[in-house]
Amino acid sequence: MTEWQKSSWRNMPRVQMPDYTDEAALNAVEAQLAKYPPLVFAGEARTLKSQLGAAARGEAFLLQGGDCAESFDQFSANSIRDTFKVMLQMAMVLTYGAKVPVVKVGRMAGQFAKPRSAPTEVKDGMELPSYRGDIINELDFSEKARMPDPQKMLQAYTQAAATLNLLRAFSTGGYADVHQVHQWTLGFTEGEKAAKYRDMANRISDTLDFMKAAGVDSKASHTLQTVDFYTSHESLLLEYEEALCRKDSTSGKWLAGSGHMIWIGDRTRQPDGAHVEFARGVLNPVGMKCGPTTTAEDLKVLMSRLNPDNEEGKLTLIARFGAGKVAEHLPRLVKAVQEEGANVTWVCDPMHGNTIKSSTGYKTRPFESVLREVREFFGVHKAEGTIPGGVHFEMTGQDVTECTGGVREVSDEDLSDRYHTACDPRLNASQSLELAFLVAEELTGRRDALAAAAS
Ligand code: PEP
Ligand code: CO
Repeated sequence: MTEWQKSSWRNMPRVQMPDYTDEAALNAVEAQLAKYPPLVFAGEARTLKSQLGAAARGEAFLLQGGDCAESFDQFSANSIRDTFKVMLQMAMVLTYGAKVPVVKVGRMAGQFAKPRSAPTEVKDGMELPSYRGDIINELDFSEKARMPDPQKMLQAYTQAAATLNLLRAFSTGGYADVHQVHQWTLGFTEGEKAAKYRDMANRISDTLDFMKAAGVDSKASHTLQTVDFYTSHESLLLEYEEALCRKDSTSGKWLAGSGHMIWIGDRTRQPDGAHVEFARGVLNPVGMKCGPTTTAEDLKVLMSRLNPDNEEGKLTLIARFGAGKVAEHLPRLVKAVQEEGANVTWVCDPMHGNTIKSSTGYKTRPFESVLREVREFFGVHKAEGTIPGGVHFEMTGQDVTECTGGVREVSDEDLSDRYHTACDPRLNASQSLELAFLVAEELTGRRDALAAAAS
C-alpha cells in the first residue's frame, strides 16, 4: 500500500461525488474549512472506539439512528431535541433488555451527502442531475437547484456545529438526567407501548427513590445525570472530509474532524476506491455497510485495509440485506470474519434493504420488514455463535408518516399526510419506540446466550 495522506483518495477512482464546475470556488471553500475548528476531538473518537469494542464483546449495545439526510430547511432546535429524546427513550428500553450500556450515536451533525442509485432524474421529459443532499445541491427540480455548489459545504459545517452544540448541551446540561425519565414521554400518551414505557419509567423512579432512601445520592452521580452522545455520518463528500481532517497532537494520527464516527456506504466500498482510501487513514471508528453484493473476498481485503492493526471497536460492519435475505448473505461474511480472526462489531441496518414503492407512489418501508430483518440478524448470530452488537435506524422524533405499519397502522394512503423526508423514509417516534421494545426482546435472548457461554 502506498503511504496514506488525507488527500491520497484523490489518486483513486471516485464514485457518487459531484463534479464541481467552478474549481476556484471549490478551492476557496476547502481552504476556508481547513481553517475552521474540528467539530469533534480525538479523545472522544477514541472513547467511542473503545465502547464499540465493548459492543462487539456483548458488553454494550450500539444504537445508531437519525435522519436519512439532514436538511437545511428542516433544521430546528425542536427536531434535534425530539430525535435526541426518542433515542434516549429507545436506549432506556434497550438497556432494560440487554442489561448493558447502550452506546448512542446519532446520524446527526454531518449526515448531509447522499449516494444515489441513478446519476440523473427525469420528470415530465426533463432530465436533471439527481439530488445528492443539501451539502451538494437542492431538492427542487430545476437546473439551478440541481447544480452542485461548493458554498453549501460551509452551511453544512455551520449547521453541524450548531447541532452538535445543542446535543452537547442536552447530553450534559440536565436534560438527559435519568431523574427526568418521565419527562421524555413526549408523544407516547396513549397505547400499549406508552403504558409499557411508563411502567419501565416507574420502575426506574422507584429504584432511584430506593437508592436515595438507602443513602446513595444518585443526584450527585455524573453517570446518572449525563449521557455520552456521539455523531456519525456517511463519509461521502471527500473534499469536505479532507478539509476537516486534523492531526491529533497526542498520537500524531489523523482525525476525521467532521464527526465521531464515519461510515462507508454500500455504493462506495470498492477496496481500491477513493472512499476506502480516505477512511483507512483516520483514527476514528469506521463503519462499513455490507449488502447482498458484498463478497467474502472483498470483505477480507476491506477488513485488512480499514483495520490493519485489528483494533477492537475500529471497524463496525453494518449489515443491510433486506428481510428474507439475511440467512442467504450474512453467514458467508460472518465466516470470512472468523477465518481472518478479525475484530469487528456487527450491526443491523434493517432500513436500506427494505425500501419499496407504495401503491400510492411513495418510497416507503413496511415496519414488518424492518422488524423481520432485525429478527433474522439476531437469528443468524445465534446460529453462528457470534455477537449482534447493535442496530442502525433511519428515524426521527417527528410524527411523520413515511414508513407503513406499526401500532398506529400507517397505511399506503396515510403516507401523504406527513411525508417530510429529504431522502429515505424514516420511522416516526412511536414506530421507533415500538422497535426498541422488540429489539429489547431479542437482546434478552443475547443475554441468555452470553450467560450460557460464560458458565
Ligand atoms: C444510508 O445509510 O442512508 C444509505 C444510503 O445506506 P446504504 O449505503 O446502505 O445504501
Ligand atoms: Co438512507
